[in-house]
Amino acid sequence: MKKIVIAIDGFSSCGKSTMAKDLAKEIGYTYIDSGAMYRAVTLYCLQQQLLKDGRIDEEKLRAAIPDIHISFVPNRETGKPDTCLNGVLVENEIRSMEVANMVSPVATLGFVRQTLVDRQQEMGKAKGVVMDGRDIGTVVFPDAELKIFVTASPEVRAKRRMDELIAKGEPASYEETLNNIITRDFIDSNREESPLRQAADALVLDNSHMSVAEQKAWLLAQYHNVIQA
Ligand code: CDP
Repeated sequence: MKKIVIAIDGFSSCGKSTMAKDLAKEIGYTYIDSGAMYRAVTLYCLQQQLLKDGRIDEEKLRAAIPDIHISFVPNRETGKPDTCLNGVLVENEIRSMEVANMVSPVATLGFVRQTLVDRQQEMGKAKGVVMDGRDIGTVVFPDAELKIFVTASPEVRAKRRMDELIAKGEPASYEETLNNIITRDFIDSNREESPLRQAADALVLDNSHMSVAEQKAWLLAQYHNVIQA
């Protein structure tokens, strides 16, 4: 069967990674979480004290970026790949609120994007991948055979993200979570370098009132439509 590239873009916390992971598992594709790569670079900045009072030491980060190695290892329990930074497992650390609060500014830097986009394109060269992020259908894989743009109301997304953090034993307040989502949406949509945009040929999915099972079925149907065309 022909292999394709599936690009899933959209706002933060709208369940892209669950959708992408479920679809990849169902059809035997590799799931790549591009956001985890931006989060790993942000964690590196925090660890190396390249982020002080909300300011990024761009010069040091630019010099260090070729040596920031990000890899993924499968996690049988979650079914999602776990992220490693320079060989060290950092999956939990990159999901912290500390990283979430700084990731969008780091992701506005052109040289960070260039480096990560190159690596993402390399990972998708052989096709058979589902990649989620903000610029996958517009910049990373403009020729992807299937592009989805996911959205949901900020309130629904904040509730979902909060439930996720609580389940992990990292309770966060609703206000803090909602503010983080609104701030990231704004930065992601208004940055100069590859802002979050719906690709002209993307299918839009508002999943505010959809269950995980319903969105999975919808996505699978879109995949079959493309494959059978
Ligand atoms: O999971 P969530 O929706 O909260 O975000 P994520 O996918 O982990 O991405 C974290 C952040 O990385 C986003 O808010 C963007 O600032 C940035 N990002 C990006 O700029 N481009 C991508 N392809 C993926 C993420």
